[in-house]
Amino acid sequence: MNNGSPSVVLENAADGVVVVGAGLAGLFTALKLSPLKVTVISPAPIGEGASSVWAQAGIAAALSEGDTPEDHAADTVRAGAGLVDEAVALLMAREARARIEDLLRYGVPFDKDLEGKLTFGHEAAHRTSRILHVKGDTAGRSIMNAIIAAVRQTPSISVLEGVVARDLVLRKGRVQGVILAPTTESSHTDSFVLPTRAVVLATGGAGHLYSVTTNPVEARGEGVAIAARAGAVIADAEFVQFHPTAIDVGRDPAPLATEALRGAGALLINRKGERFMRAIHEDAELGPRDVVARAVHREVINGRGAFLDCRPLGPGIAEKFPTVVSTCHSAGIDPAQEPIPVAPAAHYHMGGVLVDVQGRSTVDGLWACGEVTSTGAHGANRLASNSLLEAVVFGARVAEDISAALPPLPTLNLHVATRGGTPSSGSAAAEQTLRETMSANVGVVRDAEGLSETLGTIIALERESDGDTELANMLLTAKLIAAAAYERTESRGANFRSDYPRTDASQARRSMTSLKRADAIAREAAGVASPPRLRIVSQS
Ligand code: SIN
Repeated sequence: MNNGSPSVVLENAADGVVVVGAGLAGLFTALKLSPLKVTVISPAPIGEGASSVWAQAGIAAALSEGDTPEDHAADTVRAGAGLVDEAVALLMAREARARIEDLLRYGVPFDKDLEGKLTFGHEAAHRTSRILHVKGDTAGRSIMNAIIAAVRQTPSISVLEGVVARDLVLRKGRVQGVILAPTTESSHTDSFVLPTRAVVLATGGAGHLYSVTTNPVEARGEGVAIAARAGAVIADAEFVQFHPTAIDVGRDPAPLATEALRGAGALLINRKGERFMRAIHEDAELGPRDVVARAVHREVINGRGAFLDCRPLGPGIAEKFPTVVSTCHSAGIDPAQEPIPVAPAAHYHMGGVLVDVQGRSTVDGLWACGEVTSTGAHGANRLASNSLLEAVVFGARVAEDISAALPPLPTLNLHVATRGGTPSSGSAAAEQTLRETMSANVGVVRDAEGLSETLGTIIALERESDGDTELANMLLTAKLIAAAAYERTESRGANFRSDYPRTDASQARRSMTSLKRADAIAREAAGVASPPRLRIVSQS
């Protein structure tokens, strides 16, 4: 791996592929593209700032005795509340075996029994135990450590750290470069253009658009905004999954208490000690994630409080869930002795850049994989532990597709004018306003009034954000989410509308939107006549 020398990076990028994002999807794609030259763009040092590292539970794969990819796909479809693309769910479940074998080859130490056979944990809405873990709750970090080690040994991969993508350069309708900007912590000073033969967006999620989230600060929805501005179709944007059990100790981001705890017997109770989930779903604590998140939300807003009682797990909890236990200890909570206060937090964006089964977006030259995409695998409600699986399955597919037909070299002038102002203190205030309005109005429970108010706030903030592309990108993705939620006048999966509490069979279809459409909906909903001032960056 080459690290950060601008001349090496520029040469590599122009001659190869740029992967934007250094979580599991991006790095796995880069490895699979080898020996093609790849430049990976990472806002933070690799291994930091990616949600994949924080994944506690694991990776779902139908490899245990008696389990089948067909059953895994059927559970995925059932969890997705009518919007999962069944062919995609099936291909993902079928390719799990090959991708787990890849991860084992890269050295991922999945948990095994004394005979050396893989062991499988249980999680909500899976009919059987099929989650591969590493040392209890450290799967994300362990998988990423192995992948990063493999990346470091791969000479075809260069990593450019401390930069973020701000925009794509389009020529004759095709992506030919990426505009990059330094992060505020970076030693690079100017924005610059990286010409490239193909771009893979793997920028992760959008949890940081909300004031309560389990995602790292880098998960700002940038990739969705960049793709939408380039003309890409965005699918299922309204479906943001809220994790029911973020540990509620006032931290931003909120630490996670993994769903695997409930799989192992932890119970949800309120301040009176009542197990409120029993009255709500036949599977109680192991009901679908959106149902559990809404129940927890209701206990919290009604003042009864919500707590995860891990005492049934006994003292073994420290060994099985070291991350959760150490987080609790640092907040003065002993989960072996007392219930953990919990609240729902924005956790995973099911929607994103529409891609086909090879990871191609609707824009020529632009591929995408991981959380930034909408492949159709998750529908309205993602099945637990399917996200790392989707990242590796589609990472491999993207790499195969690009390797089969790498586009010709672009002839871009490297000194294309760039832009992208430095975030100001006004931007920080605007970002806080955005995050609070998203949590209040585009969260676990939504209605037309709150969504209209949010769209109005976003339009107002857009007018003030001139020059700050980072904020503009956050606002754009937030607008796509809120506009899609406004348009879906029913409750389905993660989009619960208190003004339309029923599921409407006539709306059982994925949503497809664009920047233009989201703008029009936002203006109509907010009662604003003139379009917001958004600067489009593309070259012709
Ligand atoms: C968790 O550990 O509960 C998160 C798993 C997931 O989001 O898939």
